[in-house]
Amino acid sequence: MYSSKIVYTGSYVPERVVTNDELSQIVDTSDEWISTRTGIKKRHVSTGENASDLASKTAEDILKKGNIDPLSIELIIVATVSADYSTPSTACLVQAKIGAKNAAAFDVTAACSGFVYAVSVADKFIKTGTYKNVLVIGTEVLSKITDWTDRTTCVLFGDGSAGAFLERCETGGIIAEDIGSDGERGMSLTASNILASNAFNDVEKVPSSCIAMDGRAVFQFATRQIPKSIENIIEKTGIDRNEIKYVVPHQANSRIIEIISKKTDIPMDKFYINMENYGNTSSASIPIALNEMVEKGMVKRGDKIIITGFGGGLTWGTLLVEW
Ligand code: COA
Repeated sequence: MYSSKIVYTGSYVPERVVTNDELSQIVDTSDEWISTRTGIKKRHVSTGENASDLASKTAEDILKKGNIDPLSIELIIVATVSADYSTPSTACLVQAKIGAKNAAAFDVTAACSGFVYAVSVADKFIKTGTYKNVLVIGTEVLSKITDWTDRTTCVLFGDGSAGAFLERCETGGIIAEDIGSDGERGMSLTASNILASNAFNDVEKVPSSCIAMDGRAVFQFATRQIPKSIENIIEKTGIDRNEIKYVVPHQANSRIIEIISKKTDIPMDKFYINMENYGNTSSASIPIALNEMVEKGMVKRGDKIIITGFGGGLTWGTLLVEW
């Protein structure tokens, strides 16, 4: 069986930056509350670009870095909860925009675990020999599904996009995974509910809903499930935790990451954190972090890295990657 490896990463975020102070002008909040409770200082917000626009610019960044011919791409998987349309998929829109005529394309919905799920799917296509390469992108315009009058959610999220190009390799790459879901807790984080209103029933036609969240429930879920998921990977592979060079976690809340660090006995300086500048960008948060690390030259071939995410569904996903 083959292995799959991340060979290039890329990213694109909208230019407009919204600071905590700006948010405090539209809802009853403060920079102090947001920074101390979450670690977030600012986020990027779309001035009109949609999820597929951000994703296409990420794709162009990756193609440029890898000098990749778009016609050579065999599969495009986009993870998103804020797609431009239900159909066509965001991946199909990206395929058209970058001219990847030979690629199959589809979206994956696993909220903030979306990138991990999409890489997991890509890995299977490569491992089974179906495709030699897959372009995976996480992209979100959460600002369009955010309730900007709800201070408990609107301060948390941001828009952005990033991704990775995976190729077949002989060894290393994606070594192990632990993905899972807890649908019974799904109602603690919801967005874009479209009611089943039609011409033959009395269901009222109302606009699709914004993000609604029981923050404490999600906090509790993440701080219980992610340490277990990381331990699972450590046990499954027999890797010594000191061998783990970095953990790239979903960027939701720095306090969640501190608890994960304590519970797994992996020091905080191994966790890459950049939520300060982006907020929670759902499926884009992990690849944005990963791309920054690559651009800073932090990761070297052969390094063992844990990538871990959690979110709506509720879902979680952890990968052990040999870079
Ligand atoms: N500004 C000021 N005050 C705020 C506020 C804001 N933006 N949002 C909430 N508050 C208030 C609350 O109303 C509450 O006031 P009260 O004590 O008078 O009732 C107080 O702050 C504490 O609220 P609480 O919800 O207990 O805060 P918290 O410490 O649990 O932090 C979250 C809230 C959302 C930051 C935290 O629960 C969290 O990060 N959860 C995980 C969310 C997440 O990661 N979601 C995405 C998953 S992918």
